[in-house]
Amino acid sequence: MRPSTRAVHAGRPPHEPDQPLNEPITMASTYVAGGDREYGRYTNPTWTAFEDALGELEGGRCLSFASGLAAVATVLDLVGVEESVVVPRHAYNGTLLQLADLESRGRLLARVVDIADTEAVVAACADAALVWIETPTNPAMEVADIARITEAAHAEGARVVVDNTFATPLLQQPLDLGADLVLHSATKYIAGHSDVVMGALVTRDDGLYDVLKGRRDLLGAIPGPFESWLALRGLRTLPLRVERAQANAAELARRLGDHPGVVEVRYPGFGGMLAVVLSDAAAADRLTHGTKLWVHATSLGGVESTFERRRRWRSESATIPEGLVRLSVGIEDVEDLWEDLEQALPSD
Ligand SMILES: Cc1ncc(COP(=O)(O)O)c(C=O)c1O
Repeated sequence: MRPSTRAVHAGRPPHEPDQPLNEPITMASTYVAGGDREYGRYTNPTWTAFEDALGELEGGRCLSFASGLAAVATVLDLVGVEESVVVPRHAYNGTLLQLADLESRGRLLARVVDIADTEAVVAACADAALVWIETPTNPAMEVADIARITEAAHAEGARVVVDNTFATPLLQQPLDLGADLVLHSATKYIAGHSDVVMGALVTRDDGLYDVLKGRRDLLGAIPGPFESWLALRGLRTLPLRVERAQANAAELARRLGDHPGVVEVRYPGFGGMLAVVLSDAAAADRLTHGTKLWVHATSLGGVESTFERRRRWRSESATIPEGLVRLSVGIEDVEDLWEDLEQALPSD
């Protein structure tokens, strides 16, 4: 089956008389003893339906989490005391904050790299325990060579995790490129409607799956059944949403590149995310406060277009330009999106 068919059909009850077409929301903290389920922190049929569907799209076994950062914490929890983690300097801010916190408490060592500089990343893999790839990065939009970095990491005995939140399994399949784990903030494109916070991990390694499931059972960062149902409902239309958002983003990137008020456009050539750099913070703030359709909001990957000046967060990396605005392009008509942006951009 092709990905768009999988997105629609995976994780459904069997085609048998009286079965519902969609997995219902099972609100249960416990189950009658004697079966495999036992307790609501260990499993839930609505999570399982979501996990089956995302697992099929990424080509592995999926575990869902309460948030993307809960999944991040579960992966970092696998790193032994004082072992090293290679990490992109422009990984998602929350991921970097978790690493900084763990490093400050002597739990692990972070080796910060420019993930687009493949040879520097390869060199940094020496004796590492974990290599963290995020590609494209949030919000710098750098792209990593997953296959080459994974090869180098594996030669050092390091595990590789790829945060695939921006690309989605439709545009990038890290497990096929050799990665051990894929991570999603399912809050973004997977759920797709700015109404759910959820995370996920996917792996082909059964041993690693069991370890991660054991950590989730114990740490308890589980998703809610309703969130899982909403995320699965959103996943059904992921291919259509990504196709439209990508077409819109490519067209906006082209027009923004020709605009005299824009210093730089960062678009990797795929996906619905891009960044523009304006002359300074004030110009960027005028843009984010000057539109009617585009919503000034953090987060991304919803059907509605949103944007944000990332340096408004004190914790954002100082190497992200003050005038950088990250755009999450939605599925609206591109002409409406452009007209709204254009009237709020600086004229030169
Ligand atoms: C690339 C990336 N990874 C992870 C996360 C964290 O996910 P969540 O907000 O669902 O905890 C985010 C959130 O913005 C993100 O953009």
